[in-house]
Amino acid sequence: MSPSPTPPAGAAGSLLSLRGVSKSFGAVAALTGVDLDVAAGEVVALVGDNGAGKSTLVKVLSGVHAPDAGTITFESREVSIPTPAAAQQLGIATVFQDLALCENLNVIENLFLGREMRALRLDDVAMEVRSRELLTQLSAKIPSVEVPVAALSGGQRQTVAIARSLLGDPKVIILDEPTAALGVAQTAEVLNLIERLKERGHGVLMISHNMADVQAVADTVAVLRLGRNNGVFDARTTSAEELVAAITGAADNVVSRRAGKARPEAGDAEDAAEGAVDAAGAQEPADDRPERVAPGGLRKGAGDE
Ligand SMILES: Nc1ncnc2c1ncn2[C@@H]1O[C@H](COP(=O)(O)OP(=O)(O)O)[C@@H](O)[C@H]1O
Ligand SMILES: [Mg+2]
Repeated sequence: MSPSPTPPAGAAGSLLSLRGVSKSFGAVAALTGVDLDVAAGEVVALVGDNGAGKSTLVKVLSGVHAPDAGTITFESREVSIPTPAAAQQLGIATVFQDLALCENLNVIENLFLGREMRALRLDDVAMEVRSRELLTQLSAKIPSVEVPVAALSGGQRQTVAIARSLLGDPKVIILDEPTAALGVAQTAEVLNLIERLKERGHGVLMISHNMADVQAVADTVAVLRLGRNNGVFDARTTSAEELVAAITGAADNVVSRRAGKARPEAGDAEDAAEGAVDAAGAQEPADDRPERVAPGGLRKGAGDE
């Protein structure tokens, strides 16, 4: 096991845990002894350079590839995921990067595509109601459930694909590069959507190349490098530079450095915050009594020069 400087909820609290997962394609070791934990209501970002093994890991979890070694534990039970249908039945839904939507079909038709409508005895009205419900729950901005997907923006399509993944009532949702093709506003929309998933108690595993997105929405960042774990980081206290260093291996000892630094850094941040409060507190009496004395005058003077 590789060291985890800021471990998330331990395996005990995890919805989904991988331990020692390995997968080779011939001579290529795509994954070697990979550990990963995703808890309910947690957004885990999975990051790594091209070829790091992210897609292979997603495929192992979605029943596309069988691992050569290692264990997968889901809801405290060791499981195997031999097929995509098995992943769905377990409660692991994956939104692949290509989204697999049908351009010419409308939102409702896309949501229910491939579902056994008759077995579920869902009629058109029920499907429309369910579609609206789902999109409302996600606070999704879709103009109408009756427009063809071809007329939707990239962000709206991503929303439809995510909504569709929710129909099977999954516990874990895996999103492969959900914002890769999106502009700023659409990215914000999809990040909001991920927040909704988290609020609803889903575990979310998000593959991403974008450190800003990762820091905006993830709780935990798991770094893969050359098919191996290269650290698990707290998204709130780790800088983009530190993540990039772990991704690229720029500092080979980044994991141990963070392990050593984690506490002093938190302390420094607290000291800085206290300092700010103290400074503000000290200024208050001055502001209350001699109006316009020090701060205003100084600022004006500085500005004039
Ligand atoms: N089906 C496959 N056959 C052979 N090699 C593969 C296959 N899928 C992935 N690989 C190799 O496994 C490694 C990890 O790939 P991948 O999981 O796609 O990485 P990432 O998604 O992080 O870019 C790469 O060296 C890639 O070439
Ligand atoms: Mg990939």
